[in-house]
Amino acid sequence: MTRIDGSLAGVVVAQTQLALVDGEKGIALVRGYPLPDLAARCTYEEVAHLVLLGELPGPSSGSFLRGLGSLDPASSEAARTIGKILPRPEALASSMGLLDATTGGLGAQEQAAAALACVPALVAAVAGLAAPEVGWSYARRALAALGAHRTDPLATRALEVLLSLEAEHGLSASTFACRVAASSGARAGVSLGAAVATLTGHRHGGATAEARSLLLEAWSDGDAASFVERAQAQKRRLAGFGHRIYKVADPRIPPLRAAIEAMGGARLLPIALRLSEEVERRYGARGIHANIDLFGAVLLDALGVDPDQYVAAFALGLAPGWLAHWIEQGATGRLIRPDSLYEGPPPRAVPR
Ligand code: ACO
Repeated sequence: MTRIDGSLAGVVVAQTQLALVDGEKGIALVRGYPLPDLAARCTYEEVAHLVLLGELPGPSSGSFLRGLGSLDPASSEAARTIGKILPRPEALASSMGLLDATTGGLGAQEQAAAALACVPALVAAVAGLAAPEVGWSYARRALAALGAHRTDPLATRALEVLLSLEAEHGLSASTFACRVAASSGARAGVSLGAAVATLTGHRHGGATAEARSLLLEAWSDGDAASFVERAQAQKRRLAGFGHRIYKVADPRIPPLRAAIEAMGGARLLPIALRLSEEVERRYGARGIHANIDLFGAVLLDALGVDPDQYVAAFALGLAPGWLAHWIEQGATGRLIRPDSLYEGPPPRAVPR
């Protein structure tokens, strides 16, 4: 009997050196290091170096780290044009392939590093904003690319923690999409485009903007307990809660919450904490807890980022992991091509 699960839940489809995510124990390791510790103690550049090159940077890593501060003016005009035609998250997905113009002729690892360096400029161009300054940290460039209202050091550090927590986290739907593209031999930029397109949906990265709406709704409602009770009675799906892998608390939340508290001024933090408690009480036994998108929404709201740009904020964080999976899948030389069970009409003749 053929066993079918179109969601691929629990199906192992790749061997990886990148991340171990144990959803029963609440553990996330990136190349062996606890992800929450990396986010709390390292810069985004250091985490990206680890994800892409295998180790935290050493004395000879200067060129990689400096390279991350570069720009890609060549693609800006085209990205701006695409940004005028399509809604922002879709425009970002469509313009990612422009990165390939910059990285042509390079080896896989150099292509990946060059593509990552260009992502903030591309995000800014799609949004019609000026390219971030060369030489700024990746997180500071990300703030500029997102049009954030807050750009002070604590705000920059808080965004850096969020980006680092997203930098690699196993086979999320977007990462798998990137691997599928990579398996066909697609170039780095267009493979990132496949990943961003997958990120836009409301079950994945699109949940962050929906989580902000939910938080605002619960805030104006005023009573978190009755809000969650009603949501449960209506069988409503709560954005920012639940996770395919984590059936216990998401270990990425404590370092992010600490960074948001250190930054201050996050108006949605109290209601996010109250909702988390209530959801824990009512859904915890079923393995449904707050996920990182809930607190991502709290942070991005506090930074004054337009909700249209929340998917871009996550793409800025996820890019090193996507690229590392692009390299890893490409190195296998195998096409991902699963099978399906046909259930349509029986064979029949064309009537003319
Ligand atoms: N709110 C209410 N109920 C939920 C939620 C939720 N957020 N998530 C799951 N459930 C319930 C479902 O209603 C279902 O109940 P049932 O068995 O009575 O029908 C049960 O839990 C299982 O639901 P599935 O969708 O099969 O669970 P899955 O593990 O596939 O869900 C998902 C993962 C898609 C993330 C889901 O939890 C969800 O839709 N969450 C809201 C969107 C969200 O926050 N996405 C971001 C995920 S994290 C990330 O992308 C970085």
